[in-house]
Amino acid sequence: MSLILVIDDNAGVAQALDLLFSLEGWRTLHAESPEQGLTMLASQHVDLVVQDMNFTADTTSGEEGVALFRDIRARYPDLPVILMTAWTHLHSAVELVKAGACDYLAKPWDDHKLVASIANLLELGQANRQLQQVRVRERRERESLAQRSDLCGFVYDDPATERVLTLATQVARSDLPILITGPNGAGKERIAEIVRANSLVRNGPFVTLNCGALPADLIEAELFGAEAGAYTGANKAREGKFEAADGGTLFLDEIGNLPGPGQMKLLRVLETGRFARLGSNRERQVKVRVISATNADLPAMIRQGSFREDLYYRLNVLELRLPPLADRPRDILPLARSFLGPGKQLAEGAIHALKQYSWPGNVRELKNVMARAGLLTQGDTVQAVDLGLRDLGARTPGEEIELDRESIEAAIQRAHGVIAQAAAELGLSRQALYRRMDRFGIPRAK
Ligand SMILES: Nc1ncnc2c1ncn2[C@@H]1O[C@H](COP(=O)(O)OP(=O)(O)OP(=O)(O)O)[C@@H](O)[C@H]1O
Ligand SMILES: [Mg+2]
Repeated sequence: MSLILVIDDNAGVAQALDLLFSLEGWRTLHAESPEQGLTMLASQHVDLVVQDMNFTADTTSGEEGVALFRDIRARYPDLPVILMTAWTHLHSAVELVKAGACDYLAKPWDDHKLVASIANLLELGQANRQLQQVRVRERRERESLAQRSDLCGFVYDDPATERVLTLATQVARSDLPILITGPNGAGKERIAEIVRANSLVRNGPFVTLNCGALPADLIEAELFGAEAGAYTGANKAREGKFEAADGGTLFLDEIGNLPGPGQMKLLRVLETGRFARLGSNRERQVKVRVISATNADLPAMIRQGSFREDLYYRLNVLELRLPPLADRPRDILPLARSFLGPGKQLAEGAIHALKQYSWPGNVRELKNVMARAGLLTQGDTVQAVDLGLRDLGARTPGEEIELDRESIEAAIQRAHGVIAQAAAELGLSRQALYRRMDRFGIPRAK
């Protein structure tokens, strides 16, 4: 049950508020003076304070109230305080609201407004407490993840990213093939490094082959090696990546670009651990942990007949899906700061711009933007213009935002169901978010 402390020298006011609040299911405490009020605050947990501005008979300056408010703020920075003030002092009340008072009401007060304001502040306080608990839990999980595993300097803050990292470090210890999927520049290669660093073969070789960078006939020679004369230009026998990676990890980047014959041979190595160099019949046996990555839609490629379904199931025994940067918004600022390096900071406007931008090129784009901004910036503070981001302005405050059901659900999930937080992230008021949830039939939890 919420506890409200009324600090007012007038017993009649306190009684009236007590009655009003009891109808809402709130308990009321009454203090007649600022000193008594502060003593009560020190001795028990209070959810909200309603305070008068004058306590001595015949004073009307409001100075006592201002002093009391400042005392409360200094001791309890998060405690909601509502000021009750005479009409003649609205001006100083407005000043106090700027200084951190939560609301003010002119005496005689309007019951409905007062109750609505209190209900709002209590709900917000509760949401904040929940959020703090979530944050504490997140921090603990984060510390334990960092302790248990080697994250190779991977920068992140978003819970969505943490889920990927947790899974990556867990599956790292098995020797099953892993497929890392995600859009361009999202950090797939970094995830592959993390898998390797936490695997049992971390001290073995780490060999990379970009299947998108070579013509079809050369990829096979790269993967499996070739005897001298196996193809035009092959005048010396050469070792393939599979041999080089024996006892370690082979990272096959852009696996979606591996041509048909290569796919077939790769499938065979994955099944048997055996393969032969081009131009040779001699079978070789290797033990290689295969990690592959792609930004292609492999299931769609399977439907079109350009990727083997059996290979797909072999490769993605374990799939790590790295979301686009826009879907893990809490990563944006820590990444931006890490790319900017020490000694430079971000102006408020730059922070806003970074958060609003849609990052189609993901972390790589962010890295490039920050590198350029670092060069362009005069002095040590990066301004929004230094970022040179376009597609902004889609979300100016107050403007109706078009949001689909999925973005709303995702935001609520990221906020662990705390609506105030999800709304803040989406740039909506709580009411506006509730309206949209109702429209899409998203249930109001709790
Ligand atoms: N969490 C992170 N912390 C620090 N740097 C990161 C992080 N994620 C990505 N980067 C950096 O961003 C760039 C792009 O990352 P990476 O090459 O891993 O992406 P990718 O998903 O493999 O991209 P592509 O699809 O183009 O191959 C790299 O310079 C990488 O070091
Ligand atoms: Mg890559």
